[in-house]
Amino acid sequence: MASVLVTGGLGYIGSHTVTCLIEAGHDVVIIDNLSNSDISMLGRLENLTGEKLTFHQTEMCDKNALDEVFLKHPELSGVIHFAALLLVNESVEKPTEYYYNNLVSTLNLIDCCSRHKVKNIVFSSSCTVYGQPDSVPVNELAPIKKAESPYGSTKIMCEQIFQDAVATGDIRVMCLRYFNPIGAHQSTLIGEFQHGEPHHLVPYITETAIGKRKMLRVFGGDYETRDGSCVRDYIHVMDIAEAHVLALDALMSGKTADFEAVNLGSGEGQTVLEMIYAFKEATGITIPFEIAERRPGDVEKVYADITKATSLLNWKPKRNLEEMLRSAWNWEQSLNHNV
Ligand code: WQD
Repeated sequence: MASVLVTGGLGYIGSHTVTCLIEAGHDVVIIDNLSNSDISMLGRLENLTGEKLTFHQTEMCDKNALDEVFLKHPELSGVIHFAALLLVNESVEKPTEYYYNNLVSTLNLIDCCSRHKVKNIVFSSSCTVYGQPDSVPVNELAPIKKAESPYGSTKIMCEQIFQDAVATGDIRVMCLRYFNPIGAHQSTLIGEFQHGEPHHLVPYITETAIGKRKMLRVFGGDYETRDGSCVRDYIHVMDIAEAHVLALDALMSGKTADFEAVNLGSGEGQTVLEMIYAFKEATGITIPFEIAERRPGDVEKVYADITKATSLLNWKPKRNLEEMLRSAWNWEQSLNHNV
């Protein structure tokens, strides 16, 4: 088993991945600067896993601080790199902060991995690199398009940096391109914390369901889709987390190329209106909504071809839409102690 550095390990996908790494018998070293996560997540993870976890509050943009972590943990043999600023609309307001944080943290990580001979890196990328694909479902050979936001640009740039750095022979990288991760661990001990009004659809739906929001705005009803609302590929966060363990194992086995990009989605598309209906089916709760203006930067239709994830990682999503939405609702209720 391996000792794995999980950057951003107290965040949404990072924390769920930590549970799967521990379940698979790996040791984890968590670093997080707590800019978009809560220290209470550490206790939740220790409660859930039954293990005392190694955590260092670390600013990855400070190379010396990051190097200190590698010096403390010479046993590290792999990294899963989640740490990043990730809000699309915020990135439009603060582009240089996004470029600085997301790129410098990644450059520092590559430098530390090269010097400390930590060869294997799994990188948290995004379907946002495809922009509006020419056809759907989209596979990994689809052209990378100009991003719709500085956040998306940082994901494209980080993939490019990794691809060029792999040529030195110091590192091997697998970029996992998430589609729309939703839901929460079945225990409802961990999930996605929101800071202020939710940006993403499903947290907005659950906050409307619990009464924190009055009405869901559906951003656009005039797209060229089944019902006029946008199509996305929603995937349970636990399916995403399990894929990270498989990706790390595949990378460390040496059986993959030195650089791979892999889609992680359900392989199916749902419209926004279909998600509202699916939430009613899963929970019995009707979400009040109105059709609003389109949201700048939204693509019309995107969902994944997951053939490569299945063949390379032996991975397929196990949880259906009802389980995704049910777990999201359970998490919302646990946050408001309405269980
Ligand atoms: C989904 C759909 C909205 C809120 C984001 C990131 C992307 C990736 C996946 C990480 C869209 C509509 C939303 C609302 C709505 N993340 N919507 N009303 O934008 O597809 O992708 O998550 O890698 O990088 O940007 O997710 O949940 O914001 O939106 O109608 O109140 O729901 O227009 O069609 P998105 P989202």
